[in-house]
Amino acid sequence: MAVIDLFNTYTSLVVEPAELPLFVKKKLNVFIVRTDLVHPLISGNKWYKLKYNLLAAHEGSVSRVISFGGAYSNHIHALAWASKQLGIACTGVMRGEEVVNPMLLDAQSWGMKLHFVDRANYRKRHDPQWLGALQREVGGGVIIPEGGSNALAIRGVAELMNDISITLPNLDYLLCACGTGGTLAGLISGAPNELKLEGYPVLKGANFLYGDIQQLLQAANVDAHCSWSLDLDAHYGGYGKINTEHKAHWLALEEQFKMLFDPVYTSKLVRRFLEKVEQDAYPIGSTVALVHTGGLQGRRSVL
Ligand SMILES: Cc1ncc(COP(=O)(O)O)c(C=O)c1O
Repeated sequence: MAVIDLFNTYTSLVVEPAELPLFVKKKLNVFIVRTDLVHPLISGNKWYKLKYNLLAAHEGSVSRVISFGGAYSNHIHALAWASKQLGIACTGVMRGEEVVNPMLLDAQSWGMKLHFVDRANYRKRHDPQWLGALQREVGGGVIIPEGGSNALAIRGVAELMNDISITLPNLDYLLCACGTGGTLAGLISGAPNELKLEGYPVLKGANFLYGDIQQLLQAANVDAHCSWSLDLDAHYGGYGKINTEHKAHWLALEEQFKMLFDPVYTSKLVRRFLEKVEQDAYPIGSTVALVHTGGLQGRRSVL
């Protein structure tokens, strides 16, 4: 399959109203942007973040892509599948000790080579010297950073922002979960001036994301014209922590919204949003949309 064919399967974006009694009571118009429906395997934000990365790899006749993630990374999962479709070899540099789980078994079955590195070495993933040695060790190839977050990803996510603006021209607030901040940076880069963008990091103490997002915008050569902020209270215990309490919230949210959420990102975003709605954080009459960033393959590791 050519990369063009793969990314031409994009159909129109689904944006659904969320009709909870709480939203009626608070007089809010709430919508869910269903990027989880964009593709069964390159799910959610990955579709947009990988699009120009893989087009560039294809155009440059790259033989291998190398990327980074934890053992449950949705990015690694999507990249493994997409690379197989395009006939590009792929190495996943995995943080921490070697483990086996359904996600990694999928990635391997699609031909991804897994390369586990300890956490101390994984932290060197932005160090050019370390990356050079890594490239030589895995047989060469082009580096796609963790989460796919780079200038090419920003360009893809800006297209999502454009689709959202066309579908919801009177949108006041747009919310999305953050890991590396690449998705939020892409939304910022394509946002209309009057939109208020809110990022919800799922990592504890994620203040550093303000700087990371600025850097990503600079790398993509774009200025932010809208206002944006981070809510640092959406981690509920930290990255990938799904305690009994969060699990109960997550499953209850799926019932309320009548859709599936991933345990790590969108379920925490939606949980925190409902808390803020209860606290009247949004003015009466506001139109608010939440980006469902997909990653539903991750549900099976927790259930
Ligand atoms: C399902 C899902 N939602 C949101 C995110 C966060 O995206 P970003 O790393 O671009 O902030 C990720 C992580 O990459 C993800 O897998």
